[in-house]
Amino acid sequence: MAERFETKTVHISHAPIADVSKATPIYQTSVFAFPGLEEVEQYYAGERNYLYTRNGNPNQVELADAVAALEDAELGVSAASGMGAIMAGLLAVLKPGDHILASHEIYGGTYALLSKELSRFQIEMTLIDLTNEKNLADSLRPTTKMLFLETITNPLLTVVDMPYWFQEAKRHGLIVMVDNTFATPYLVRPIAYGADLVVHSATKYIGGHSDVTAGVLVGRKDLVERAKEIVVNFGASLSPFEAWLTSRGLKTMAVRMERQCDNAKQVAAFLRNHPAVAKTYYPSEEETSFFHRAKQGAMVSFALADESLIYKFYRSLKWISFAPSLAGVETTVSHPVTTSHRALSEEQRQATGITKGLVRLSVGIEAHDDIIAELKQALDQA
Ligand SMILES: Cc1ncc(COP(=O)(O)O)c(C=O)c1O
Repeated sequence: MAERFETKTVHISHAPIADVSKATPIYQTSVFAFPGLEEVEQYYAGERNYLYTRNGNPNQVELADAVAALEDAELGVSAASGMGAIMAGLLAVLKPGDHILASHEIYGGTYALLSKELSRFQIEMTLIDLTNEKNLADSLRPTTKMLFLETITNPLLTVVDMPYWFQEAKRHGLIVMVDNTFATPYLVRPIAYGADLVVHSATKYIGGHSDVTAGVLVGRKDLVERAKEIVVNFGASLSPFEAWLTSRGLKTMAVRMERQCDNAKQVAAFLRNHPAVAKTYYPSEEETSFFHRAKQGAMVSFALADESLIYKFYRSLKWISFAPSLAGVETTVSHPVTTSHRALSEEQRQATGITKGLVRLSVGIEAHDDIIAELKQALDQA
């Protein structure tokens, strides 16, 4: 060790840690040190794992590997957000001149990525209503490469017949990519039905505590390897601390989901019988019959009978907070028209059912009767 104080200040904390930590350490480093040039060569020969955190970091890999294992995927890559992971998955497949079919009910951010950004690279999109269409033939072009859909859609919680659409897509040689954020692999693993790529906003149920922004893409090895390069080259790598927090959250995903789904079922039953509620959106047992568990998710949306009372309803909530995200351990509400679906025209809103009176509820792990009592007191005033 060098003797000068200035040098020691920099190097003194680099003592190796002898004991094995039960929790994964956070590799909060931007770069990895090498004893010599031979080891650098080993990295490039694939014999060492890490060089620079944007290219790879143990915490990123821990998360990606865990989600890949839970989704029964060959390989995974983590990204700085769900959108980063979606971008990497799309660009791993699509090139200029290609065409993608996307479900007409996709997350607004995914729609913006396709319509505003990838369109500039001559990647074209057609939205398709998978609840009403019978096949893909009418929407196909010679350049169609991919089908993109969400397992449970936002905010109307539609579940399309995924096994049918995957078969249909495969029949036409399309790559299938699924956003499984709302369902999680606890409920369904799309790869079992033939998905090539599965993506998550790990900001939601995988993290589960509303304290991280992260994404994970898993699936076919060749595609995910390409997506990894895209994450690195576009600078969309996940920070080690965010990866660590997300992996920590993931450990309790199964118990959280079990409780949240059970709570949501009770909440949906309550809402269906409340006179102030015109319609409740919650997946049916029939729609979700291909899920690996007899549960329908933890999101419930509902439309107020009198939409002019929507402001009063939100103001009347005492402890359920308004938060335009979802999937934390705490119950929250959102208002799609004001937030996620703000960009829709009045006609689009009427056509899709995303109306001013629509409330999106993310059901948490609290006691279900407390959640119901809280909603009841607000609805009784609406
Ligand atoms: C279904 C779905 N996919 C993707 C995203 C984007 O994820 P992120 O905000 O982590 O980029 C969201 C965000 O709300 C989402 O709801």
